[in-house]
Amino acid sequence: MARNARTATRTAKGRAARPAARPRPTVDLDRFLPEIGQIKDKALADKVRAVWADLWARSEFRDFAKVPTSGSIAYPNIPHTRSVIAMACAIADTYARFHGIGTDRDVLLAACLLQDASKLVEYRPKKGGGVEKTEIGKNYPHAFSAAQSALAHGVPMSVVHIILTHSPSAAKFPQSLEGKIIYYADQLDVIAIHGDDFVKEQMIYRR
Ligand SMILES: [Fe+2]
Repeated sequence: MARNARTATRTAKGRAARPAARPRPTVDLDRFLPEIGQIKDKALADKVRAVWADLWARSEFRDFAKVPTSGSIAYPNIPHTRSVIAMACAIADTYARFHGIGTDRDVLLAACLLQDASKLVEYRPKKGGGVEKTEIGKNYPHAFSAAQSALAHGVPMSVVHIILTHSPSAAKFPQSLEGKIIYYADQLDVIAIHGDDFVKEQMIYRR
């Protein structure tokens, strides 16, 4: 940890002692993400909280509200996550209303809540402003850390599968309906807060 002149103290011999580690700021997670309270399975809701707490404890960010959506999208991650939750639930409700197609709301909520939690450890504040990728961000696929923590905390595989596949950068496409809803809702929200990165390419195939 870097020395901090403001918190450094002096030993009896006058040498500067190592500064005391600054305690991690505590975060009222349910205030930032009240949708956790909508998960009916209270044990699953607690696992979602535990994953966020685990990643926050390992994060180099100190202001939870300022963690960005990505290195190229400075927009804060929390309203992005909440918007994806709202859109995903609206799509699931529409499927049920018009087609009678059911989805697992707890899986949908837990996966939405955790899909971008890894941003806490994939990026860190950069000197002079902005963010940069951490070693985790450079070396592992996006969402790897949230998936790893979710498995360690007993989050069901159906949720972990969506965490790992929710991004276009993932190796696999989500297999479940809940995962597909989140995949597209996430991309729709990125269009709102950042812009449309998709391009249409026309392919002409020989017979
Ligand atoms: Fe993501």
